[in-house]
Amino acid sequence: MNKQTETVLSYHNRSKHSLERYAKGPESIDWEDQPDQFRRFSGCEIVTLPLPGAELEPLFADLDKPETIPARPLNLINAGLLLELAFGLSAWKQFGPSRWALRCNPSSGNLHPTEAYLVSTGNGFIKPGVYHYVSHDHSLEQRCRFSDNLPDSSILVGLSSVHWREAWKYGERAFRYCQHDIGHALGALRYAAATLGWSVELQAEWSDDDIAKLLGLDRDDFKKQEHESPDIICRIDAHASGKPLDVNALLEAAQSGAWFGKADSLRAYHMYKWPVIDEVATAASKPRTEEPDWQANKQQFIKSPCTKTASQIIRQRRSAQQFDGKMSPLPQTDFYRMLATVMPTTAAFDLWRWPPKIHLFIFVHRVEGLAPGIYALPRHNDALEPLQAATLADFDWQKVSETLPLYHLHSGDCRQIAKTLSCHQPIASDSAFSLGMVAEFGDTIAEKPWLYRRLFWECGLIGQTLYLEAEAAGIRGTGIGCYFDDSVHELLGIKNDKFQCLYHFTVGKPLEDKRLETLPAYGHLTSA
Ligand SMILES: Cc1cc2nc3c(=O)[nH]c(=O)nc-3n(C[C@H](O)[C@H](O)[C@H](O)COP(=O)(O)O)c2cc1C
Repeated sequence: MNKQTETVLSYHNRSKHSLERYAKGPESIDWEDQPDQFRRFSGCEIVTLPLPGAELEPLFADLDKPETIPARPLNLINAGLLLELAFGLSAWKQFGPSRWALRCNPSSGNLHPTEAYLVSTGNGFIKPGVYHYVSHDHSLEQRCRFSDNLPDSSILVGLSSVHWREAWKYGERAFRYCQHDIGHALGALRYAAATLGWSVELQAEWSDDDIAKLLGLDRDDFKKQEHESPDIICRIDAHASGKPLDVNALLEAAQSGAWFGKADSLRAYHMYKWPVIDEVATAASKPRTEEPDWQANKQQFIKSPCTKTASQIIRQRRSAQQFDGKMSPLPQTDFYRMLATVMPTTAAFDLWRWPPKIHLFIFVHRVEGLAPGIYALPRHNDALEPLQAATLADFDWQKVSETLPLYHLHSGDCRQIAKTLSCHQPIASDSAFSLGMVAEFGDTIAEKPWLYRRLFWECGLIGQTLYLEAEAAGIRGTGIGCYFDDSVHELLGIKNDKFQCLYHFTVGKPLEDKRLETLPAYGHLTSA
């Protein structure tokens, strides 16, 4: 095992929560001192995007066949819609004097460590260069002006993480949450692009250093502990040109371009330091690689009965904070539809270039026609036997669906255990079902420690799909980052790091907190 993998494994183990102790985090939190959720760079030219909130025609159900959605022209209105539907504000909530923004992409603790950038290679509507998206203002800050247009006339979207923003509340486990959030943001980007009739190409070959160079993250423009770590770069293909991107030309344009602005301080007092996060970030940093263009064969599956538009569903997505523990059972077709959409054979995963490494273990609490208990959904066939071998011998692995690889393992009321395992949170037991996402772990990171992050991204992508599918089915989901890792493994019979559980999720009938007032997402722009 190489040194970097050792560092990643050691981080993974020490950032586990257990029934006896939580992973190391701050002993106290001063909410007045929360890091600013909205990064801004002072000294940049601002490009105001057209007013957000436009409703688009495609139905959520149309996203199953994205090729049938006509591609909208690449212009400032549509680029603005892309950013809004992926990373923009979706509402404000108010309780007494407290007021906080929600966004189309979810985030653990609503801390939003993810930052988004738009890169224009030269097209009619925005000068070639690098722009930082400010979701609060729905505007772009021009960080870099390229001296010339590049031959490729597309846009790219880059994502990075301010680890500190998450670590402020969650301490050492925060690095994991930052990765989950990147996966959710990638999912949010894919759904936003599909609504516009565009596709997203994950530029997985790039190294993190390449991404940092292009987005200016390696520059001396950030307060030391508030720097951004490079994560993902995607090309948004509005016209399905399919031409490969010239990485070196882009990097050269960024290097010879004129850069503007300095990141404003996030204003938090850095009372606690979590050096292990910098250590794991360095150990899991990605070199340039060659990557496959793997894609699962697309398959027909249960059509979504949802008649709302995709933009409605995207903007109404929320995390449920409480569920109705007395809900009538979830219709089986809704359950099967949700599970079908997280299979790699669906359009939601068309940007994912690798065979799936994340499999679901589901606690069914209230689903029509299914006995409460534990079920498994291996997301590809080859994982079935290894999962059977790695889990309890008395799981019965009875296939319960003709169309889905869904297996019954154990019957029984699992509400209490699901709640306990998810850090005693009732959202894991009062729902229709909750689940653990189990990764093919040890072998994946043995030689390539940077794949640690990609495993969490895949979890986030699945989570984002479940969030939107739950809304489309008239119910609601919530990501669960807090769970007792090794107790989950023990329950399933997992004895070593060949498989590890990396994320939980829950779906059910939400109970609204009537004390909270909901305000429009961008009222502050129209009333200004
Ligand atoms: C990676 C991740 C982990 C989360 N973990 C929890 C959790 O353990 N418990 C919980 O109640 N909510 C959890 N959430 C939900 C967030 O608190 C929620 O996304 C955030 O408050 C923003 O609200 P919204 O999703 O309604 O926009 C998690 C969300 C994400 C993305």
